Amino acid sequence: MKVQNIAIFASGSGSNARKILEYFEDRDDVDVAIIITNRKSAGVLNHAREFGVSTLRIDRPYFYNNDYILNVLKAEKIDLIVLAGFLWLIPPYLISKFPNKILNIHPALLPKYGGKGMYGHHVHEAVKANNEPVSGMTIHFVNENFDEGGHIFQAKCAILPTDSANEIAANVLKLEHTHYAEVIDKVLKGL
Ligand code: GAR
Repeated sequence: MKVQNIAIFASGSGSNARKILEYFEDRDDVDVAIIITNRKSAGVLNHAREFGVSTLRIDRPYFYNNDYILNVLKAEKIDLIVLAGFLWLIPPYLISKFPNKILNIHPALLPKYGGKGMYGHHVHEAVKANNEPVSGMTIHFVNENFDEGGHIFQAKCAILPTDSANEIAANVLKLEHTHYAEVIDKVLKGL
């Protein structure tokens, strides 16, 4: 059986990465081979340790100015790159080596509330400020622009007028945790 290998890129607390690790933990056909982060103190590193997944910390020069990462991904036989709270723009050399093989999750209903600077709490504060009646999350392919690749899946949640930005964030994160790993699984199966 061919094992399909995932690389997760994550810079934050890593709650989505953890859900993905849990989802694939008992699977023989899918392996989270490596977690790559740009932050020394990223919470995702604790999850990686707990699940025995190797990690790599990168800095900007390595990421943007040479193909060091490509060699790492090749050595790990990576089939799919999954961004889970990774905020750097993905460089063209990586996109061309992994066409439609890089996924991102974004905490809003794209194309609204996407683009540079729109991440995490900034998104939910903007949604709240505009009195949106609904928010949600989008899973999409990654292209050379922030949050602009083709959509794969969206899920929505209603917003009450009394909901704070933090409450919106919590509801959206629940949706992310419910759906991301399943969507990754479907993409790996070519569905
Ligand atoms: C998630 O809400 C994800 O959608 C968001 O960062 C959070 C990471 O949380 N990503 C972006 O805003 C990308 N533009 P986590 O570290 O707990 O998984």
